[in-house]
Amino acid sequence: MLAAWCLLYLVVLLLAVKYAYRAYAGRCYSTNRLDGKLAIVTGASAGIGAETCLDFARRGARVIMACRNLEKAQRVAANIKRMSGNEAVTVKKLDLASLASVRAFCNDILKTETALHILVNNAGIGGSVQKQMSEDGFELTMASNHYGHFLLTNMLGKLLKNGAPSRVVCVASLAYFWTGKMDVEDLNFRNIPYGDYRAYSLSKLANILMTRELARRLEGTGVTTYSVHVYRCNYVLRTPRLRGHRNIPQELGDGGRLVC
Ligand SMILES: NC(=O)c1ccc[n+]([C@@H]2O[C@H](COP(=O)([O-])OP(=O)(O)OC[C@H]3O[C@@H](n4cnc5c(N)ncnc54)[C@H](OP(=O)(O)O)[C@@H]3O)[C@@H](O)[C@H]2O)c1
Repeated sequence: MLAAWCLLYLVVLLLAVKYAYRAYAGRCYSTNRLDGKLAIVTGASAGIGAETCLDFARRGARVIMACRNLEKAQRVAANIKRMSGNEAVTVKKLDLASLASVRAFCNDILKTETALHILVNNAGIGGSVQKQMSEDGFELTMASNHYGHFLLTNMLGKLLKNGAPSRVVCVASLAYFWTGKMDVEDLNFRNIPYGDYRAYSLSKLANILMTRELARRLEGTGVTTYSVHVYRCNYVLRTPRLRGHRNIPQELGDGGRLVC
């Protein structure tokens, strides 16, 4: 009997924390128009990136989806165009784990655009179970989640200044909290034991530190920077069992719609 009461107490406590967190975290219900604005969103072929592009497109922005898998991204872009009625949604190749790819993407943008208003550094991977290295010799999670975005943001800085008031949004995570001490001498985990969650949380801390330093350096330029945490999000329709459990009208990507 005591065990049942304890269990009930635990369930109620967990639900209270969940709903308090949701209420505290809030949602964006902005309907501000973005006509005439250019937005670049990385990792837009799925999840939060795809949903962000849909919202921007619905509000009239011109959107560039910066993605590594062009075929998948084109399918998502087609859905975004159909759902938003906005045809100004394009896909461009960007693999953030490759500095050469970031440079090629930025050089293309610098040639074709004169101003950028919104940059969403969203793309991210959870750490892989086994440590992997990028083609540039960096630990893959840091390379994908941080170094690529660092180079991207720096190379597009001039366009962001031209577009001011403009903003950089880094999709970070509360996971940064579990990093512990950041050893800047060993970001490749040569001496520090590698762990997937450790690599992920380190990359998210790096996102936040970059955003804060950018805010300091860009003060007075009209470019503002933000790091955000998204409350645990899932692609509900990935699980066929869950289809129909929520009132989600259309699919956006291969995996379905995002709910937070
Ligand atoms: N979901 C959550 O609950 C949660 C919580 C806190 C923070 N976040 C952060 O939110 C961001 C998006 O998460 P999500 O849940 O939407 O993830 P997701 O559904 O797995 O989508 C990740 C996106 O990033 C892209 N990507 C990964 N590596 C890339 C690379 N090297 N170059 C270019 N694109 C790359 C993926 O491309 P492909 O389609 O080609 O794989 C995909 O479009 C991440 O930064 C994550 O850390 C998520």
